Amino acid sequence: MVNKKFYITTPIYYPNDIPHVGHAYTTIAADILSRWFRIRGYDVFFLTGTDDHGKKIALAAEKAGKSPKKFTDSLIPKFKEAWKKLNIKYDRFIRTTDKDHEKIVQEILQKTYDKGDIYKGEYEGYYCIGCEAYYTEKDLENGCCPIHKTKIEKLKEETYFFKLSKYQKALLDFYKKNPDFISPKNRRQEIINRVKEGLNDLSISRTSFNWGIPLPFDKKHICYVWQDALYNYYSATRQKGKEKYWPTNIHLIGKDILWFHSVYWPAFLISAGISLPNCVFAHGWWTFDKEKISKSRGKVINVDELVAIAGVDSARYFLFREGVFGEDSDFSEKILIERHNNELANKLGNLVSRVTNLAEKNQIQKTTNNLLKKLKLKQIEKLIKNYELDKALNLIFEFIDICNEYVQNKKPWETKDKKVLYELVDSIKAIAILLWPFIPETSEKIAKQIGFKIKFDEIKKPIPANKIKKSEILFKKI
Ligand code: MSP
Repeated sequence: MVNKKFYITTPIYYPNDIPHVGHAYTTIAADILSRWFRIRGYDVFFLTGTDDHGKKIALAAEKAGKSPKKFTDSLIPKFKEAWKKLNIKYDRFIRTTDKDHEKIVQEILQKTYDKGDIYKGEYEGYYCIGCEAYYTEKDLENGCCPIHKTKIEKLKEETYFFKLSKYQKALLDFYKKNPDFISPKNRRQEIINRVKEGLNDLSISRTSFNWGIPLPFDKKHICYVWQDALYNYYSATRQKGKEKYWPTNIHLIGKDILWFHSVYWPAFLISAGISLPNCVFAHGWWTFDKEKISKSRGKVINVDELVAIAGVDSARYFLFREGVFGEDSDFSEKILIERHNNELANKLGNLVSRVTNLAEKNQIQKTTNNLLKKLKLKQIEKLIKNYELDKALNLIFEFIDICNEYVQNKKPWETKDKKVLYELVDSIKAIAILLWPFIPETSEKIAKQIGFKIKFDEIKKPIPANKIKKSEILFKKI
């Protein structure tokens, strides 16, 4: 039997600085989902990477006194190290400077041009380098970018346009037929309304600088950085053996870049005759002590700082327990530590250490695990399939509470009841497997002590008759 495939992507990040908690959030979410689908038996392809071209990077490189290539080369290891530190297991790290990507971008541009969807003209208007996006007069706030609040450059240059306006109807039809394409649901209507208002053709080339992919039909122009970047999701599947993964099951992104992904991206694909992704899921933004994460105000927390607070698993856990996945959340070191102490150390850590301690000293005896019947497995599966990660975690922790109460009520340290101990050890196995996508390091430690494999099917199988080792402290209280 051929395994079902699951193709998941993160945005490709601008390598103009080291990654921070916002970038980490999307990437961990993709890691959680890909781990989940892997243990569910799917053939997973998890893609992440960097968006190396464009004016923003060219300027940052200039400031650093380096060529854009040298500059980005120096930052890529920082991203890779950060993802390693966070225990993120991606399948490919793509850069828009990768040769295979550049080739595919040119191929698709040529195809789109041959089809008559690209024409030459002149762009006159506003451009925010921070967003790498075009704005009209009415979008601006006091002459500034509505997102960055900075002065915005006025452009007037020869450019090629993509006939975006032509795809208005096709897009609206597509959204209607595919109600889950724009997710979560509450973000859908705003996009539809804006598309209904009408679409302007999109300027897709620049001539005033050269850090980008040349248009194949006019080498004087380089491709607009967003178009170049969006194609990465497709170009990564043109590699030998990777074709089977297209179309994407889920593009995970932040809400700030939903317009690019839900309007430009499908329009580019329809024009090129390529089938469309299943879903673009936009999560919310993290604020920092209720303020927008911003370098200029010092409100930014990078990956090293994040992990230093309470370790990698506590960071991963906090990010997905604290906020509703899809909505904005506030980052607070204090709450991260509270959750580490109260939930990971007191609830999960104590359960595992008490039970494995007793199971090491006393024997366990196989029996029907009635305790496990209280685990809402079907619901958890459904929640994760709907990308409701925080709710899934809530249900897993509800079951941890049930197990802790069971220990309190049954007092196995007095009774030495071998069957009760079996039920508890077997339930911990289920908990560890379900938590593995979220906190893999901890789950793997538990699996080693009790002696089982992290596989979904193992949840329902009785634990092997191993010698159980008492647990080291999983979470030291802070
Ligand atoms: N290069 C583009 C994406 C191209 S994808 C074809 C880009 N890069 S970025 O470096 O600015 O990173 C954008 C992503 O980082 C956001 O979409 C979001 O996923 C994440 N975040 C950045 N700051 C964030 C927060 N404060 N909170 C949550 N996520 C945020 O845009």
